[in-house]
Amino acid sequence: MNTIKKDAIAMLTAEHREVRDLFERYEALGQDDKNRKKKLADQICTALTLHATIEEEIFYPAVREAGVDTAELVDEAIVEHASAKDLIAQLQEMDPDDALYDAKVKVLSEQIAHHVGEEEKEIFPKAKKNKLDLAAMAEEMALRKDEVAATM
Ligand SMILES: [Fe+2]
Ligand SMILES: [Fe+2]
Repeated sequence: MNTIKKDAIAMLTAEHREVRDLFERYEALGQDDKNRKKKLADQICTALTLHATIEEEIFYPAVREAGVDTAELVDEAIVEHASAKDLIAQLQEMDPDDALYDAKVKVLSEQIAHHVGEEEKEIFPKAKKNKLDLAAMAEEMALRKDEVAATM
């Protein structure tokens, strides 16, 4: 799953697409397809957790350090991650038979779509304009992702 991407922004953007595809596959499932719902929701939760980790540990601090005028955007992004993590933790304890399971997946999907929109329209363009070493960052993120994935 760790396709080597030439730069950090390409890598994060590719992960956004992967998660969006997983949400779309979830939505396309039949109401009673409980096994596949659980499997896809778990995949979504894992992908988002790994993604948020490398953004918070590596990408956001680098963007902040570069002194781009993104401080408020990054603060907002971190709050949005916290809210997503809360829903992820709930979903991981739940079963598709539980009340509100689909609703929580749906709300998570909407929150993530909003969050990804802000990253791609506001944070990424600013990061690109600054002299961040996006290639080195991609490598660091890929390594960290493998490390965290191994503990999950
Ligand atoms: Fe994010
Ligand atoms: Fe992201």
